[in-house]
Amino acid sequence: MEKVTVSLGNRSYKIIISSGLCNDISFWSLMSSDKVMIVTNETLSHIYLNKILTLMEKSKIKVEYVILPDGEQYKNMKSVDKIISALLKSSYGRDTKLIALGGGVIGDITGFAAAIYQRGISFIQVPTTLLSQVDSSVGGKTGVNHILGKNMIGAFHQPLLVIIDTDFLSSLPAREFSSGLAEVIKYGIILDNDFFQWVEQNIDLLMSLDKNALTYCIRKCCELKANIVSDDECDTGCRALLNLGHTFGHAIEACMGYGKWLHGEAVSAGIVMAIRTAERLIQFNKKNANKIINLLQRANLPIYGPIEMIAQDYLNYMMRDKKIISGNQLRLVIPISIGISELRNDIPDKLVIESINDCCQLRHI
Ligand SMILES: NC(=O)c1ccc[n+]([C@@H]2O[C@H](COP(=O)([O-])OP(=O)(O)OC[C@H]3O[C@@H](n4cnc5c(N)ncnc54)[C@H](O)[C@@H]3O)[C@@H](O)[C@H]2O)c1
Ligand SMILES: [Zn+2]
Repeated sequence: MEKVTVSLGNRSYKIIISSGLCNDISFWSLMSSDKVMIVTNETLSHIYLNKILTLMEKSKIKVEYVILPDGEQYKNMKSVDKIISALLKSSYGRDTKLIALGGGVIGDITGFAAAIYQRGISFIQVPTTLLSQVDSSVGGKTGVNHILGKNMIGAFHQPLLVIIDTDFLSSLPAREFSSGLAEVIKYGIILDNDFFQWVEQNIDLLMSLDKNALTYCIRKCCELKANIVSDDECDTGCRALLNLGHTFGHAIEACMGYGKWLHGEAVSAGIVMAIRTAERLIQFNKKNANKIINLLQRANLPIYGPIEMIAQDYLNYMMRDKKIISGNQLRLVIPISIGISELRNDIPDKLVIESINDCCQLRHI
């Protein structure tokens, strides 16, 4: 079992990583004195909910559950309201713990419900996708979408604990797994050359769901994210580095319609666009650029944007992204070399357009 601490004073918490955790009755019995409400979705409830409920009931935990429909389109206030109504109907008070059993969508909704129910209750993240295990379950960003924008309603609310069981990944569709690998590769590029090289050497083991490789990889990503979150909990400084490839990626997700391109797929193409920008801006090393692109391809991730999009489509969406700074100037994360990156807000639009064009399949039409 691996443990990582997110150091945030009296809001510090542990991330526990192992396989078989959720089948371990002693684990659930840790919560014995609490009232617990599990929040999950229809897909996960079919596979895992009964098993977990049985273990909790054996441990004499008062547990109820809410099952939400599956999908990003349900990451909204209606789902938050369902959770709050269930809590109120069962007279759950401020001593309640919510358990988010699912991917990033369930984690974000549940965390937000926990942030606002009776001015804030505790919640535990039990992430079940690779993306949520290496990224969204750590750091306390919670929230839901508004029809006018993604993640536009939310709060910073740190979990009490994050329980990462790598066994969940055995039922995860391969495309979703690859989507999570984009975030894994991202951590190496922005923060840690040694880890990048480790992923290069172990990508096949990771993709065959080797437990030791997964545990190491997830621990390393959680450590890298925990350090950033400890330094910049509220995302006013270095936390923005985690957005490598995301400004381009968000444009793809929004333009294509959410769900068509998975988040990690859009980020993967976005990373290549950021690399192309870095090649023009600071002569980013060609050999390193090829290493990154090869690794994304080995992880079954796209290195070009969607065929339907041209560079101007990206710019239109990027200019609306909440990550742009004042004065209409784009703020982009630019890798300097593998393991080092910086935020730049002085990149000429022309250079960005050329870099997107390198990754547009329709650029010559
Ligand atoms: N809070 C943050 O810091 C943060 C960071 C990154 C992303 N996010 C958010 O995370 C969300 C994306 O998360 P995601 O990629 O985990 O998607 P997701 O939660 O939609 O899960 C992807 C799909 O996999 C299914 N699934 C989940 N676990 C499974 C399992 N073990 N077996 C079988 N199927 C399983 C889900 O039901 C869903 O259909 C987005 O809403 C994004 O905004 C938040
Ligand atoms: Zn992301």
